[in-house]
Amino acid sequence: MSGGRDLVSPEPDNDEYAIEAALRPKRLDEFIGQARVREQLSLVLESAMRRNRPPDHVLMSGGPGLGKTTLAMIIAAELGMPLRVTSGPALERAGDLAAILSTLSEGEVLFIDEIHRMARPAEEMLYLAMEDFRVDIVVGKGPGATSIPLDIAPFTLVGATTRAGLLPAPLRDRFGFTAHMDFYEAAELEQVLTRSARLLSVDLPPEGAHEIARRSRGTPRIANRLLRRVRDFSEVRADGLVTREIASAALNLYEVDGEGLDRLDRAVLGVLLRKFGGGPVGLSTLAVAVGEEPETVEVVAEPFLVRQGLIARTPRGRVATASAWAHLGLTPPPDAFGASVLPSLFDEA
Ligand SMILES: Nc1ncnc2c1ncn2[C@@H]1O[C@H](COP(=O)(O)OP(=O)(O)OP(=O)(O)O)[C@@H](O)[C@H]1O
Ligand SMILES: [Mg+2]
Repeated sequence: MSGGRDLVSPEPDNDEYAIEAALRPKRLDEFIGQARVREQLSLVLESAMRRNRPPDHVLMSGGPGLGKTTLAMIIAAELGMPLRVTSGPALERAGDLAAILSTLSEGEVLFIDEIHRMARPAEEMLYLAMEDFRVDIVVGKGPGATSIPLDIAPFTLVGATTRAGLLPAPLRDRFGFTAHMDFYEAAELEQVLTRSARLLSVDLPPEGAHEIARRSRGTPRIANRLLRRVRDFSEVRADGLVTREIASAALNLYEVDGEGLDRLDRAVLGVLLRKFGGGPVGLSTLAVAVGEEPETVEVVAEPFLVRQGLIARTPRGRVATASAWAHLGLTPPPDAFGASVLPSLFDEA
């Protein structure tokens, strides 16, 4: 795919993992934004440490690039405990999970990324492990099979998911604390950018940070990525100082628009407006029209478009708001909001 799309994708590139690791805050007080989550989490951790027990299991839900993996690492660091990392797709069989659980040391933090993608049998094993610190190992097959209960060391599970809605209720209920990660405010992203610029030795004055922050889709990962592209531009085309003009010229070159919309966002909006007259239209119809998986549209593009007030989700499908027409410089047809599903939504626009 072309540069514009990749540049504002909230998913990491392959060669981005190393640089992300270098930019990751290591402790809770370095973690920027998400004030509520930070405060809640620090209480959970602190009280556990006072009681000298592993804290409750923690679930983190939120879109890609908002800091879930970063927080998981911070939890282990704050507890002073080792961290074991795995992911839902890696746990295909119950045995995969049993092998991990049975070798955890006391108090260890087990991080399961994309926990909603775990296979069913592993999930059921996890219920018991979370609640009773026990697993049942099944030996043999068929009528002769027996299950051997095995105690495991008390541990803390940290689960991360971009799709909390897909987690079965029994699993969700076994987490003592759920951290809902939301998009960041531009001012918070400015802090993220200022910190990253310091670590990368980029000369970034506040107005440059401001320009990048407001185009970063509320997402630290995107902010850090745009910073690197803007740095390249400023070093090659200017003297390295990231002024507002330099940041703006660089981001225009990479087709990140003034509100941070990327190609996919604009494609979704464009189709919704030009092809479906502003909707309502169903998610899968919309996804087919832009040539993407429904999940990509739903997890990657839509939350940001909704948050920007450009589209609304209604029971009858996705609907464009008046701002969406304005954003693409189009005039809504006279009946665009005629059959409006949510008339009040447009009153204020
Ligand atoms: N609160 C924060 N303060 C500073 N930097 C942050 C913060 N949150 C995230 N970052 C930066 O953004 C990058 C992406 O964060 P992270 O990998 O934790 O996201 P994620 O939610 O796990 O994404 P995914 O769903 O794709 O796994 C990190 O490298 C980190 O440098
Ligand atoms: Mg992650």
